Amino acid sequence: MTPSDYEYLRKLLKERSGLDLSADKQYLVESRLLPLARKSSLAGISELVTRMRSGSEALTADVVEAMTTNETFFFRDKIPFDHLREAVLPALVKARAARRSLRIWCAASSTGQEPYSIAMCLKEAGSLLAGWRTEIVATDLSLAVLEKSKAGIFSQFEVQRGLPIQLLVKYFTQNGELWQISPEIRGMIQHRQLNLLQDFSHLGTFDIIFCRNVLIYFDQTTKANIFERIARMMEPDGVLALGAAESVVGITNTFKPFPERRGLYRPNVAPVLRVGASTMVPQTLRAVASAAR
Ligand SMILES: C[S@@+](CC[C@H](N)C(=O)[O-])C[C@H]1O[C@@H](n2cnc3c(N)ncnc32)[C@H](O)[C@@H]1O
Repeated sequence: MTPSDYEYLRKLLKERSGLDLSADKQYLVESRLLPLARKSSLAGISELVTRMRSGSEALTADVVEAMTTNETFFFRDKIPFDHLREAVLPALVKARAARRSLRIWCAASSTGQEPYSIAMCLKEAGSLLAGWRTEIVATDLSLAVLEKSKAGIFSQFEVQRGLPIQLLVKYFTQNGELWQISPEIRGMIQHRQLNLLQDFSHLGTFDIIFCRNVLIYFDQTTKANIFERIARMMEPDGVLALGAAESVVGITNTFKPFPERRGLYRPNVAPVLRVGASTMVPQTLRAVASAAR
């Protein structure tokens, strides 16, 4: 791969998926793209780039997908799911007593362990949510991970990572070396392909958003822009969960920490948001303003 090939790939990946590669990540690009070049009967990465430069959209989409990191596991980091059970669900159930419905978005859901962990938490909440309408929307840029997630089939290794044995026994059926999650839990999730760099306002308003371990790959401006657009899709008392290595601090003032619940944030209804060069009033502010009228 020549320096010019690498620069081409860096620029393209930043534009297409937000992936912000530093100047020294050639080894990563090579290890992810060489298998794709071979599969496409190309001699190497330079030939792959030449093909992409000549406008092969399908190959470009495959490159973007091959460069995503899909690492995930059930109940990853444990604490956000404890918070969900102990604090978030009880508070929202109280606040939504009249409506009896909850909408949850799992952005960057990868192969499904995260949205299925959320679904199992809801199911395990039992009588707390009996008779409630709950919707979980799982989205990801990668079609391959969405297909795996939809199937709900996991290897022995995958179910051994983070999934309590009693939930495995209760919600999964074993078929040889594989385990499939029950149709009931699968039916709680709607899967959609979605690139966080693009408009996602059509998804509607959510009470809870999990956006974990994806923004770490983006630069500060992209992160701030995504936080600001997420804030506009949240109920004023909604909750955002981020990954263990992620935070809003120093990036945006559209969220504030959820008291005593590390990794959780609430929309900040006070400030006027800035998105790129334009200033706009978030939906949460609009809701407060219209309620006051
Ligand atoms: C490391 S996984 C995180 C999965 C899960 N949220 C978790 O914390 O276990 C990151 C996921 O983000 C997805 N992704 C990367 N760039 C994206 C983008 N621009 N829009 C949406 N999803 C993206 C990848 O395909 C991948 O499945």
